[in-house]
Amino acid sequence: MTIAIEPVTDPHALAEALSGRMLIDGALVPAVSGRTYAVINPATGQTIATAPFGEAADVEAAVASAAAAQKAWAKLPARRRGALVAECGRLLAGRVEELGRLVALETGKALRTESRGEASVLADVFTFFGGLGSELKGETIPFDPAMLTVTLREPIGVIGAIIPWNAPMMLMAMKIAPALVAGNAVVVKAAEEAPLAVLRVAQVMNTVLPKGVFNLITGFGPECGAPLVAAPAVRKVTFTGSVETGRAVYRAAADKLIPVTLELGGKSPMIVMADADLDRAVAGAVAGMRFTRQGQSCTASSRIFVHDSIHDAFVDRLAAAVDRMVMGDPLDERTDIGAIVSKSQHERVCGYIEAGRAAGAGVRACSALPDDPALAGGLFVRPHVFTGLGNDSRLAREEIFGPVCCVIRFRDYEEAIAAANDSDYGLAATLWTRDLKTALDAAHRLEAGFVQVNQNLVVQPSLSYGGIKQSGLGKEASLEAMLEHFTHKKTVILNMT
Ligand code: NAI
Ligand code: MG
Repeated sequence: MTIAIEPVTDPHALAEALSGRMLIDGALVPAVSGRTYAVINPATGQTIATAPFGEAADVEAAVASAAAAQKAWAKLPARRRGALVAECGRLLAGRVEELGRLVALETGKALRTESRGEASVLADVFTFFGGLGSELKGETIPFDPAMLTVTLREPIGVIGAIIPWNAPMMLMAMKIAPALVAGNAVVVKAAEEAPLAVLRVAQVMNTVLPKGVFNLITGFGPECGAPLVAAPAVRKVTFTGSVETGRAVYRAAADKLIPVTLELGGKSPMIVMADADLDRAVAGAVAGMRFTRQGQSCTASSRIFVHDSIHDAFVDRLAAAVDRMVMGDPLDERTDIGAIVSKSQHERVCGYIEAGRAAGAGVRACSALPDDPALAGGLFVRPHVFTGLGNDSRLAREEIFGPVCCVIRFRDYEEAIAAANDSDYGLAATLWTRDLKTALDAAHRLEAGFVQVNQNLVVQPSLSYGGIKQSGLGKEASLEAMLEHFTHKKTVILNMT
């Protein structure tokens, strides 16, 4: 069966066309069992497509295809592989509208504020890594003048990549683009909630790359993700998702003695000092909390420590800024905030809001729920700004992954640093101050993989990204990440005596 490759900007039509398929060995195929599951539009509750319910037999076929393709792929000159990956980026850049609409439809993320941006970053990640083929360099070592001793960067083989639904295309690109440039073949397991946009990306890549080098399978964690980790030919797993699943993946990888990269969530602190530019800090909190993505971000600045002297003004301005945001149909250009991805995530987030209210916290519920009857079955949640909860409260300790943040009052800097670091997580941290000395001190002391002062950017290709503590293992998004996580170093000695 062929599915037209011409750009389709009606996401409903495209979702239907992609129904029931995944990419194995260069072909769009159903599951061996023929089983499928429904893909839901979270803004309406309606079924928009089906996806194959992948299981062990499908995993086996995808891994076999990758293993067969990888040998010839690794023999291509590295710059040639890079050029092909960059070509994928060029083609994807021409489909920002198509991919943005499709990912908005399946995830509930607003097109204007989130989904279109994700599609652009996707293309940029391919372009960035596509240029790094010639950076797969080794070293020469002055071991003995009569011997040439060098190290070579070699591919690992078949990589299993397990991705989540919150930014599925972008998070997939961060794994597959460097893995492919480094000479590996990849099998991606899509998130069950968001299998469509990544499949369209796979279909586009398939017009450029040799068959089998890249495979995309769909299905659920236990039936599809676990067999991928366990597959004997998979020599490394790269995972983004929850801590609990990350631990299960790590345990399964330990049985096989294969390396893992784990990007697990966070509870990222943002500290606002008394001397901070208040307007910029408020805008930074709105951006950092990812309210436009319903807070469904691993980096979300969900613990906001604000100095006593500006606390009340900060809360007022933050609540007012979030209140101005429009919640509605993700495909409507006026919409700032869309829907929560799934019923289970919706229940989870609502549970935290109830727990916060029950704990007697101060709370501002912002933005009106959409009144469009077409969205009556949608999974919308009003953003909540909680105050008066301590850093020891459940809402401040657990990752909520929803539009819910805690603003916590502090009186002195040492107290703020200690509270910021008092967390199981260590992904990102942000500080707002005009004082350079404080900025540098905090940059040293904050326990996080990524510290920003007076700004709140998200993942950028070229900047290493990844957490410490329960936030994960290893880095993504950079040249160093490609070298460290998608190659191994071989030492070679040529004895000339
Ligand atoms: P999850 O970690 O269960 O799912 C992520 C991926 O892992 C999906 O593709 C899933 O099918 C797969 N998976 C699940 N069980 C597996 C297993 N045993 N073996 C192999 N793969 C498996 O996350 P979920 O259930 O979507 O969300 C739960 C929570 O996880 C969220 O509320 C949030 O706190 C966190 N999360 C963090 C993300 C991040 O960016 N770090 C992304 C998504 C979720
Ligand atoms: Mg799960």
